[in-house]
Amino acid sequence: MRITKIEASGIRNYRSLNISFNKGINALYGRNGSGKTNIVEIIDYVTIGKSFKADSDEELINFEEEFAKVKIEYDRKQKNEIKIILYGEGKKIFKNDVELKKLSLLPGNLIDILFTPQDVFLFKDSPSIRRRLIDVTLSSIDKQYLVELSNYKRLLKDRNTVLKGELFDEKYLQIITEQMTESEFYIYSKRKWLIDKINNLITGIYRRLDEENNELFIKYNPFIQEENKEKYVFEALKKYNETKETDLKRKSTTDGIHREDIETLLNEREISLFGSQGQNRMVCLALKFSLYEIVKSEIGEDPILILDDVLSELDVIHQEKLIKYLENVEQTFITCTELNEKLKNYSTYEIVDGTVIRR
Ligand SMILES: Nc1ncnc2c1ncn2[C@@H]1O[C@H](COP(=O)(O)OP(=O)(O)OP(=O)(O)O)[C@@H](O)[C@H]1O
Ligand SMILES: [Mg+2]
Repeated sequence: MRITKIEASGIRNYRSLNISFNKGINALYGRNGSGKTNIVEIIDYVTIGKSFKADSDEELINFEEEFAKVKIEYDRKQKNEIKIILYGEGKKIFKNDVELKKLSLLPGNLIDILFTPQDVFLFKDSPSIRRRLIDVTLSSIDKQYLVELSNYKRLLKDRNTVLKGELFDEKYLQIITEQMTESEFYIYSKRKWLIDKINNLITGIYRRLDEENNELFIKYNPFIQEENKEKYVFEALKKYNETKETDLKRKSTTDGIHREDIETLLNEREISLFGSQGQNRMVCLALKFSLYEIVKSEIGEDPILILDDVLSELDVIHQEKLIKYLENVEQTFITCTELNEKLKNYSTYEIVDGTVIRR
């Protein structure tokens, strides 16, 4: 898929924006604070209706404006457009001029893989950040995953309420726990599927970005490791039974798929402990590119690739390897403060204080 045009007004530092984009690499360059991240934030916002930077939509509205408007035209076998109007207290979303009444109808239309500077901490950050990456990726290719995950989260909340309750209801706790294990099996199976797929790809991708002799492995630490559903449910219930006393004392659910995590090993060593900053960045890129390939093969189309400020920590050789890698991607948005010599061969846009100038 490919974004052909963005029209926006009153969003971040853009009073008005109207810009066409091309196939292949689109390089956005400009000084610190000029508005490069704001552009990629706008694109990513339109994919799921939530900003990767802001806690509330209100932050996106220009300081001087009451509301913001963004329209993205994109080709996905046919021409489409998504329009979002943000008011202080809510938003309206339209696809091809038809209103999408629920936010959950938005994901899956325009699909991107996003890399931001914060991702350099992906492996050092708390497990919830890594789970989120896996959950967002699976949700974009499997609607049922989102359903099971929401179901699980709702049940988990109910279970914790029961654990906190003054009138403890043993029977109700058992019913909720049994229902949770059903969703957990689905979520576990899909997470395992994704991580196996990543492992098939990630070393090959990493070697294209760095040295040939490197080996990468993602180790999944699941709540329960069991491929057969009945056995899984049996083992999960056994575990919940074992942790029941602790759960009651803590008034919350100690274990479950909401606590799962992955380890990322570069040459058998955990990257967050032993990797350099540049290696953390490249391993994260290799992980995101693996997800890109998996999503692509699942949906039968190229997602949009967004790389915000990735070049700054890479030396010239690694920058060139990365740019070479991008040659096979249908459409990339890459931001940088200085235009790398190699990027000059592609579509370039200079950003100056909230205006975009095609170069
Ligand atoms: N709601 C808003 N209204 C107006 N301006 C805003 C709003 N939110 C952020 N800005 C401005 O946008 C600018 C930051 O833009 P952005 O983060 O896109 O910069 P950048 O080009 O990515 O910079 P860097 O190279 O440092 O990453 C800041 O000057 C900030 O004041
Ligand atoms: Mg930025």
